[in-house]
Amino acid sequence: MTAESPLHDWLAQTAIARAQQGLTRELVARPPVDDVLDLAGNDYLGLSREPTVVEAAVDAVRTWGTGATGSRLVTGTTQLHAELEQELAAFTGASEALVFATGYAANLAVVTALGGEGTLLVSDAGNHASLIDGARLARGRVVVTPHRDVSAVCDALAARTEPRALVVTDAVFSVDGDAAPLADLADVCATYGATLVVDEAHALGVVGPGGAGLVAAERLERNVDVIRTVTLSKALGAQGGAVLATPDVVAHLVDTARTFIFDTGLAPSSVAAAIQALRVLRARPELAETVREHASALARGLDRPEPAAAIVGVPVADPRLAVVAMRRCAALGVRLGCFRPPSVPDRCSRLRIAARATLTAAQVQYVVQTVRAAVATAA
Ligand SMILES: Cc1ncc(COP(=O)(O)O)c(C=O)c1O
Repeated sequence: MTAESPLHDWLAQTAIARAQQGLTRELVARPPVDDVLDLAGNDYLGLSREPTVVEAAVDAVRTWGTGATGSRLVTGTTQLHAELEQELAAFTGASEALVFATGYAANLAVVTALGGEGTLLVSDAGNHASLIDGARLARGRVVVTPHRDVSAVCDALAARTEPRALVVTDAVFSVDGDAAPLADLADVCATYGATLVVDEAHALGVVGPGGAGLVAAERLERNVDVIRTVTLSKALGAQGGAVLATPDVVAHLVDTARTFIFDTGLAPSSVAAAIQALRVLRARPELAETVREHASALARGLDRPEPAAAIVGVPVADPRLAVVAMRRCAALGVRLGCFRPPSVPDRCSRLRIAARATLTAAQVQYVVQTVRAAVATAA
């Protein structure tokens, strides 16, 4: 029972409103050993449980302790951090990498440190919350363009009065799994002297040569006006994030990015896990192809467009029905994500299926049947 006060009255009213719209969220604890097919998580390649990755993390705890003990600029940089930065840069064809505590922090860093006064920020309407928040915190002017609309980006850049411009986009969008038109965006940026910031969260490890990402797939990795961010928490099965960029950008972030300077460094165990996950991926580049094949098969079975990476979104417009369908799937042994407002830009809820490289063909078929039946009965 909470005391009556303006704050608690308001909280009660907004909670009722959310419940009426089917937007209440629930924390469901995951057991250590899963008895369901987990297609809700982003462990696309199954690396979070790969024995050598687990061993690397455990060894790092023994060597370095459980935490980074300080910000990267104080005591939070270990030899492991430097090693990960070198390996990430080599893997993705970037000149340098800078590791952050999360992908969210990496996105906030780039967009705020490069998008201050005198900058126009052009942001896709389907971008991840971390890019949106970065644009809100940066002091530049923000224009949100319709999803994947290159001509709207062009118009915004052509009309700008600011000396600098950043065009900000997910590589693979997190709700529907579609890809950004990167080659066209890079051309438009070159025409108007703008910088392209690409969030490769859902592309690293899944898209491009051996999983090097969409920027590498489009051969833009040596373009000095394309800056990438990645997360280590999805295909690499670890935790953390990074910016991939030229040395001058990295130096600017080290000196000015608030989420680099004022945040504790990434824990050594996560750094070690990410290094080993990258090594596994280099040794087994077919993992990226396998997860894409499974995602394609899921999309075909569910009459969805060909996915760009591992994500297949299935629209169930009403958030209440989306939750019913998700629960039916869970009861039948298939755990899926359920994205509802505000996580969906168009207010249309989706079931979100994340393919995994470890699925068998029979499991893919079972997921298709289960999702089809659950969506049909929920409707
Ligand atoms: C597109 C995108 N960018 C960034 C992030 C944030 O990454 P992290 O979870 O490492 O903070 C996510 C994670 O949900 C994401 O989907």
